[in-house]
Amino acid sequence: MKTKDSMWDLFQRRGLSRRSFLKTCITLTGILGLSPSMLADVVAAAEKNALPVVIWLHGHECTGCDESFIRSQSPMASDVLLNMISLEYSDTLSAASGEQFEKHLKETMEKYAGKYILATEGGVPLAEDGIYCMVGGRPYVTVLKEVAENAAAIIEYGSCASWGGIQAARPNPTNSVAVSDVVSGKPIINVPGCPPIPEVMTAVVMHYALFGEIPPLDSQGRPKQFYGNRIHDTCYRRAFFDSGMFVEKFDDAGAKAGWCLYKMGCRGPSSYNSCGNMRWWNGLSYPIQSGHGCIGCSSKGFWDNDPFYQRLPNIPVPKTITTADEVGMVAVGAAVAGVVAHGAISAVQKNKRQTEKHDDNVRGPQA
Ligand code: SF4
Ligand code: SF4
Ligand code: F3S
Repeated sequence: MKTKDSMWDLFQRRGLSRRSFLKTCITLTGILGLSPSMLADVVAAAEKNALPVVIWLHGHECTGCDESFIRSQSPMASDVLLNMISLEYSDTLSAASGEQFEKHLKETMEKYAGKYILATEGGVPLAEDGIYCMVGGRPYVTVLKEVAENAAAIIEYGSCASWGGIQAARPNPTNSVAVSDVVSGKPIINVPGCPPIPEVMTAVVMHYALFGEIPPLDSQGRPKQFYGNRIHDTCYRRAFFDSGMFVEKFDDAGAKAGWCLYKMGCRGPSSYNSCGNMRWWNGLSYPIQSGHGCIGCSSKGFWDNDPFYQRLPNIPVPKTITTADEVGMVAVGAAVAGVVAHGAISAVQKNKRQTEKHDDNVRGPQA
């Protein structure tokens, strides 16, 4: 469903300046992972495209994903809710409730059939006909299927909605499953994490709001721009891993010095998320920075995966450096690796430029 206002229309109606509109567009361009050259496209889309209607359902969950969302700083969650989307229904964020509110949900689904975004939070318990999660007196699974039927796209916020999450952990007495286990035939975006990073949550819905399509996804249905890197590859403690300098106990000298947490069970080498780049609470910190290893909260089945606080198997661990000469060798090795990587990237870029030039020659000048 689309409202008749674009973001720019709404800014003008609220008496907000063109300057603040452009600043918002710049923020969005950055958070969406687009290059600065795409700013004009973002501005054009925000001027022209009508704001999307969003229905947000809550299932088997702790509401932590909501708590994360409302702490988005860039863009501010309040800006997203008031100026960038039209949130028509949410159990927790809407002021209304009761029968009138359920009636509004029905009317919204009918009026905007095939056009609204369905944001979901929480798993879907199936045991005993879904009675372990009731919404408005009906099993969540029933409500979910109804609302999903005419949705344009579905966002699964959090590891509960994406994979089943903690509710689905062994022995899973309520037979809780992911949203995509009971709904199909729609574009579905997984935004896992327990909870996901607030700015990732806002960016995903804003990508659809601006461009009318879901962002590029990886093989597990996650937006590539936010789940394309391992925690391990963006970790500021990585140099300690590469040097074999590990925390052995949470209160040892290595822990105080900020060494690598791999031996304390850090799952950074097997987890994909943007925590190392974006961090939390406006870039303030993230689990590893607070001294605790990553528990892989964005990974499928993270609760049941290998035991917490035990080192991951099958990760080659570098030898501990003990002398200044060895430190020097590691530094030289890193520099050589950097040169090799730079050369490889340059070659790929050069190849791409040549291919584009060739394509331009074949196509001729564009209109
Ligand atoms: Fe709560 Fe985590 Fe589930 Fe979000 S993913 S609702 S934070 S348990
Ligand atoms: Fe960082 Fe964990 Fe990797 Fe160590 S194992 S470098 S703490 S992500
Ligand atoms: Fe989760 Fe690991 Fe990030 S535990 S919050 S994916 S550092």
